[in-house]
Amino acid sequence: MSSNDKAQHPSTGDQVTLQAGDRSVSLPLLRPTIGADCVDISRLPKETGLFTYDAGYTATASCKSAITYIDGDNGVLLYRGYPIEQLAQNSSFLEVSYLLMNGELPTPSEFAAFDDEVTHHTMMHESLKNFLGGFRHDAHPMAMLCSSVASLSAFYHDTLDLNDPEQRRLAAIRLIAKVPTLAAAAYRYSVGWPIRYPRNNLDYVDRFLHMMFEVPSEPLELNPVVRKALDLLFILHADHEQNASTSTVRMVGSTGANPYACVAAGIAALWGPAHGGANEAVLKQLAEIGDAKHVDKALARAKDKDDNFRLMGFGHRVYKNFDPRAKIIREMTHEVLGELGIDDPMLEVAMRLEEAALKDDYFVQRKLYPNVDFYSGIIYKALKIPTEMFTVMFAIGRTAGWVSHWLEQQTDPEFKIGRPRQIYTGADTRDYVARDKR
Ligand code: CMC
Repeated sequence: MSSNDKAQHPSTGDQVTLQAGDRSVSLPLLRPTIGADCVDISRLPKETGLFTYDAGYTATASCKSAITYIDGDNGVLLYRGYPIEQLAQNSSFLEVSYLLMNGELPTPSEFAAFDDEVTHHTMMHESLKNFLGGFRHDAHPMAMLCSSVASLSAFYHDTLDLNDPEQRRLAAIRLIAKVPTLAAAAYRYSVGWPIRYPRNNLDYVDRFLHMMFEVPSEPLELNPVVRKALDLLFILHADHEQNASTSTVRMVGSTGANPYACVAAGIAALWGPAHGGANEAVLKQLAEIGDAKHVDKALARAKDKDDNFRLMGFGHRVYKNFDPRAKIIREMTHEVLGELGIDDPMLEVAMRLEEAALKDDYFVQRKLYPNVDFYSGIIYKALKIPTEMFTVMFAIGRTAGWVSHWLEQQTDPEFKIGRPRQIYTGADTRDYVARDKR
């Protein structure tokens, strides 16, 4: 059995006995390939009448998955077993997408076939231009991306038979291929430029940059560091196990909804500032702080319980040591700014903020470290990507993860509709009173 098979089917080890008053139940312990053991509570309600409560799923695994592993205490992130540092150093986003979807790194011919397939699905249907044209000129690109991705289900009826593995795979390829096209189209619409068709003689990252920035009147000159930085950011954003947006994709997927609707729901979940929207919020916050001399004031506000101000780009539900993605991005930020000759005062504010927070008791005790979004905005800004597009950029990378989780879920032998329970806190049973008697 390969390690991936083992992760799909964790071994059952000891039992855990739960005693609640005079009720007792033995629950199986599930052993993952790596990481903490997990108590299988699925028999609990049947055998004891008890449910479990875990607001925000801080202690609950929602599925078995062989895609990504995170060790939050030691700052480890593995895609299909490969450390993120090695993939960031040696791989490309498209290769990582193949790895996430298929479980193994591609051979040269497998990669060529995958690249060719993605490349030949990059066009969006011409009517999508009318669809995007219906938005106000100042529409947020996340609104445009979310709805245009949902609309793909109306264009590709031929890949909606979820029982057909080939149709599922094709839908996943279409999403990886078309999300950058839709993202760039949303951006160009917002700035009043004509939409640029994807150029299939270019690779994934170059093609996206051309769709974003090439104007009809002159050729686009690209600095190689721009390509490298964008490819790296896509790799780092590609997957992060059961985060809010991926869990949303799986929740919607559990109902049998089509993959375009599932990914659109994931995009909606990503938008929030506690999740992918943080990269946009970080840059806005750094601009508000404005100067390194105001950092202490910002820190004091973040610690004040009567102020709902939080330091955006700090903290993570799982990483309680450091976010390995933030380390890699931090280095790349310096490389990009150095190479492009940009002297961005925001970088100074960011570095001062990081330094002050890492020394501050409040942040140290709560294990709040800079996360992936802390530095990514500074790179995007240097690449001339507007702030409103930051979360869209995150969505382009995360699409690879979303479709991989959706594909995995479709063949999960324990596939079930996601249907959490609740603790009811409303009124007890009472009788209806006629309106004139109230
Ligand atoms: N600034 C100030 N205090 C914070 C922050 C912050 N950024 N994050 C957490 N805390 C405090 C929080 O007030 C709480 O304090 P106390 O124990 O005294 O009540 C404690 O730390 C634990 O916070 P929590 O909200 O219970 O932690 P969580 O795991 O539910 O939230 C988080 C994780 C990422 C939503 C949160 O840290 C946060 O809101 N960070 C800012 C937004 C952000 O950067 N999000 C991007 C996450 S990484 C990209 C991604 O995967 O989407």
